[in-house]
Amino acid sequence: MCGIVGYIGVKEKKEILLDGLQELEYRGYDSAGIAIIENSQLKHFKAVGKLENLREKTKNYSSSGFGVSIGHTRWATHGKPTELNAHPHLGEFSFVVHNGIIENYQELKEELESDGINFLSQTDTETIVHLFEKYYNKSKEPFISFTNTINRLQGAYALLLITEAEPDVIFFAKNGSPMLIGFNKDEIYFASSDTPIIGKATEVYYLEDGEYGYAKNGEVTLFNKNGEKGFVKKALTTNKAMAQKDGFRFFMEKEIYEQSQVINDTMIGRVLDKEIDFEELNSDFFNGISNIKICACGTSYHSALAGSYLLERVAKIPCQVEIASEFRYKEPLLQKNTLFITISQSGETADTLEALKMAKRAGLRSLSVCNVDNSSIVRESDRAILTRAGIEKGVASTKAFATQTMVLWLLTLYIAQIKKTISKEELDSELKAIRKTPKALIVTDKLHDKIHRLSKRYLHGHGFFFIGRDLFFPLALEGALKLKEISYLHAEGYPAGEMKHGPIALADSELFTIALMPKSLHYEKIKSNVEELSARDATILAISPEPFELSDDFIQTHYKSHPMLEFFEMMVITQLLALEISIRLGNDVDMPRNLAKSVTVE
Ligand code: F6R
Repeated sequence: MCGIVGYIGVKEKKEILLDGLQELEYRGYDSAGIAIIENSQLKHFKAVGKLENLREKTKNYSSSGFGVSIGHTRWATHGKPTELNAHPHLGEFSFVVHNGIIENYQELKEELESDGINFLSQTDTETIVHLFEKYYNKSKEPFISFTNTINRLQGAYALLLITEAEPDVIFFAKNGSPMLIGFNKDEIYFASSDTPIIGKATEVYYLEDGEYGYAKNGEVTLFNKNGEKGFVKKALTTNKAMAQKDGFRFFMEKEIYEQSQVINDTMIGRVLDKEIDFEELNSDFFNGISNIKICACGTSYHSALAGSYLLERVAKIPCQVEIASEFRYKEPLLQKNTLFITISQSGETADTLEALKMAKRAGLRSLSVCNVDNSSIVRESDRAILTRAGIEKGVASTKAFATQTMVLWLLTLYIAQIKKTISKEELDSELKAIRKTPKALIVTDKLHDKIHRLSKRYLHGHGFFFIGRDLFFPLALEGALKLKEISYLHAEGYPAGEMKHGPIALADSELFTIALMPKSLHYEKIKSNVEELSARDATILAISPEPFELSDDFIQTHYKSHPMLEFFEMMVITQLLALEISIRLGNDVDMPRNLAKSVTVE
C-alpha cells in the first residue's frame, strides 16, 4: 500500500510530486521521499511520518527548467518506518521508487553483497537500484540494464527509476501493482492511481502487468514480453471524488473489494515458508505469560472475540475478551502473568486507550494490534503489530476487521510455535489455509450481483438475527453491526444455540435470520438451530457451502476445508449484504448518521 508519483517536464517538480503524494497519502504515510534530476544534478529528500514533514524539509528547495522526478509515500512492509527505509532508494548514481514486494530480494541481496555492495536499508526495494547499476557498470546501456534488472525480479511491483547515466529519462515497469502514465502535451506523469494527475494530465494509459519501458522527450516507449508494443491513451476523468473511489460508488464498497489485496500486505514478511514470524515480537516477550486479556470496542471487539477462540484452541492459552468501556469501570483484577492486548483500527479510541493505561498501571505487559502507526495506542503499548490495511475511509469498518482477524490468526500460530502446542503438520496446514485467504476474499461479479438482487427482499421486517456458532458467533455480531450501522434496521448477532433460550419468541415470517452455516465447524449443530427457526416460520437466508432446503434464500460459499477460510468468505458476504441494503434504502453508506470514524471521547 505505497503511493508513487513521477513527472518529466519543465514545471516546478517538487510541488507536482508533493501534491501528487498528498493524494496518495491514504495508501501509506509512515515516510515519504522525492528525487529530482535537473541540469544533470541529482537531489533527494526523505522524511519520516506524514507528508507535511517532507514539505517542511523541502520548503527552501524549488526546481526550475527541464528535469525528471520521482516520489513515494510509504506504508512499511519490509523494515521499520525510518528515513533510511524510505524511498527513493539510492545507488551510486540512480534512484528507484517501488510499490509491491520483491519476493526473491534476499537471494538478490546476497548476490549483490558478495559483489561488495553495501545496503543502507532493510527494504527489498534497494536491491533494484543496485542491480540496475551493476548491469549498467558492465554494459553502459541504461535501458538494457533496466530490462536485465526487471527480468530478475520476482513478485509484485510498480517501479520508477531515474539515473544520472541518462538524466532525461524515467524507466518504468509494472507487474501486479497499479501504475498509470498521464500525458499533457510534452509532459509525462506517472502515478499509482488517477487522483494525483487529475487536473494536470489530459490523457492516460493504464499499464498492464508485464509492461515496462521508458519516457523521454514527451514520448513513452512501451514493451512487454513480446517486444515493443503500441498503446492507446484514454481521456482522463476530471472528477477527483470519483477517482479516489477507483470507480466504486462508496469508499466502503472499494474497501470491501480491497480486502483481498490488503490482506497480502498484512501477511508480508510474517507468513514464511514453514513458520509465522513477527519482526515486532520475540519469544522472550511471552516469558512468564500464561493468560491473555483483549480489550477493544465495536468491530475491533468482534475481531478480538474471534481471536480468542483461536488463541484458546490452537495456542492453548486462556484468553478473555472485554469491551473496553465496560472494563474501565468494573474494577478488574489484573495479574502480572496476563498479556494485555488492545485492538483498534484508529489507535485513538478513548475507551481502549484508557483500558490500556489501566493495564499498564497494574504492571501488565501490553501489545496492540492497530492500523495506524504512531497513534496513541501504539505509542502507549510495549509492542505493536500493525495491521497494514491502509487508510479506511468508510465509517463502517471492513478491511480493518479482516486484517485485525488475520493478525490474530497469525499471532495465535506464533504463540503456538513458541509454546509448541502445534505439530509441524498442523502448522503446515494452517499456513496453507492462510495463503488461500486472499482468494477467499475476492468479490466476484456473480456474488455481488446475487447479493444486490437478494437485498431488495430485506428492506423491511421487524428485525434481523445474524446467527452463528463458535468463531462464527463473533462474525454474526459483526454482520449485525455492519447492517445496523449503515441501514438503520434493527439487527442482532446471536450464538445460534442461544436462540431457544429466549429470542426465538420473536420468530415469525417478518423476522429475518441470516444463518452462518460453515461446513468445517459444527455444521450439524447449527443446522438444527436453523431448523428450529424455520419451524417457527422465520425467513431464513442461509450462507453455507452445503445447500440447505429449509432456507428461503441461499448463498452458496466455496471454501469448506478450513473454518477461517469459511469465515473470511462469509464475512465478505455479510459486508456486501449490508452495503446493498443500505444503498437501496438511499442512505449515505460512507457517513452513516450519528457515527464518527474515530471515537476519541468516552
Ligand atoms: C464499526 C466501527 C466501530 C469501531 C469502534 C472501535 O464499523 O468501525 O465499531 O470498530 O469504534 O474503533 P477502533 O477500532 O478505531 O478502536
